[in-house]
Amino acid sequence: MRKLCLLLSSALLLMGSARAQHQIPPYIPPTDKAVQANLEQWSDWKFGMLIHWGAYSQWGIVESWSICPEDEGWTQRQPYGIPYYDYVKKYEELGKTFNPTKFDPSKWAKAAKDAGMKYVVFTTKHHDGFCMFDTKQTDYKVSNPNYAFGKDARSNIAKEVFEAFRKEGLHAGAYFSKPDWHSQDYWWSYFPPKDRHVNYDVSKYPDRWKAFRQYTYNQIEELMTGYGKLDILWLDGGWVRPRKQDKKAAADITAAETGEKVIKQDEDIDMDGIAAMARTHQPGLIVVDREVHGPNENYRTPEQQIPDKPLDYPWETCMTMANSWSYVPNDHYKSVNVLIHNLVDIVAKGGNYLLNVGPGPDGQLHDEAYTTMTAIGAWMHINGDAIYATKSVAPYKDGKVCFTRKRDGSVYAIYLLDKDEQVPATIAFKGLTPAKGAKLEMLGAKDKLSWKATGGGTTITIPATLQKKGFQHAVAIRISAVAS
Ligand code: GLC
Repeated sequence: MRKLCLLLSSALLLMGSARAQHQIPPYIPPTDKAVQANLEQWSDWKFGMLIHWGAYSQWGIVESWSICPEDEGWTQRQPYGIPYYDYVKKYEELGKTFNPTKFDPSKWAKAAKDAGMKYVVFTTKHHDGFCMFDTKQTDYKVSNPNYAFGKDARSNIAKEVFEAFRKEGLHAGAYFSKPDWHSQDYWWSYFPPKDRHVNYDVSKYPDRWKAFRQYTYNQIEELMTGYGKLDILWLDGGWVRPRKQDKKAAADITAAETGEKVIKQDEDIDMDGIAAMARTHQPGLIVVDREVHGPNENYRTPEQQIPDKPLDYPWETCMTMANSWSYVPNDHYKSVNVLIHNLVDIVAKGGNYLLNVGPGPDGQLHDEAYTTMTAIGAWMHINGDAIYATKSVAPYKDGKVCFTRKRDGSVYAIYLLDKDEQVPATIAFKGLTPAKGAKLEMLGAKDKLSWKATGGGTTITIPATLQKKGFQHAVAIRISAVAS
């Protein structure tokens, strides 16, 4: 019997530690007051634009990944079977011919503003290492005077983008890839690259890794000093991380967390030091060391997905407006209906929505990106108050109704309309009731709406005139006060 107990308790112990190992480390809130304040503001913006743009757009292929020698669907090289180094050579030459003569970021910025977006995050450098800013650390940059666009007055592309968006009143964020597949200090040509990681043994060649850290530090410092006010440093390539997480995070980086079998290398680029440096130039900067759960991940970034439930830390879903992050000819765009529903769903769960577009090689967005943004803007123009500066509120979502709460205590019930669906005669939900005497009205209409409490829930009556008013995508009903 004792033996059985012992066996059982050690089995339980094992299960416990296995669970602990797979647990995602807790969110670490920033201690810097200015960062806290900026994060609070950022969470009011709700809607932003992510832009993936680089020399790769000339081929209309996936950004960077085709030079990564992993055998995955998105890393495939064309023509299939082409020798690896022949391919990389051709790929890197794309920098020379990249010539976006129709580059006009003020057009993107206006479209983003009209859509109701409040910030932009732009790829200053993706994993391929091609810089879309005028770095002094490498010649592999769009502003190289020997390259097609290098002598153009707009060749410091990132600067032009940030300035154009700020001019429209939007906030600016720099996407920056920590891995750099062009750098000799990340993929040293003495060895063949095998996967996305650094391709030499960091413990055996510490000076090379030190040089890579310095390179990264210098590039980020350039971005923090020469590009005006930046609100977010959005760092991609989460596999570049220390093997052991910061002690404050109280967690080892487990294999489960990175999706890999073993963490082979200690790819520590001193993110604490980089963040501290960045904030001396940009006080209160929000640093997003994506997926490296710890003090430098000021918010978390679910990718191409919406969490099932509200999360108890700041978060932002990044998602493509079409299928790809980067430009693909004839890419298939998500419908306006789907995008608005996503936005409402995300905001009701307390998150932000960072929606991506991929400009083409000439610098223009697909027409569909513009029509989509105009349509979202038309909806936001009426319904923005139900989105911006809101918090999540229980029951978050009940069937087709999502909820958001304003700082003054009022609540919005947002009813998601299917494509071509008319506003129904009644809108009912559970889990929330208006306070006695509360005023209910639909955004975009003046009528006062009547309601009745129905067993822990509410049924709102919609007058026939409003049903026929032609509302699309979603309607927001403001409830001036809710019963506690
Ligand atoms: C994915 C892609 C990467 C892209 C990122 C944006 O991780 O692989 O290329 O930059 O999403 O969130």
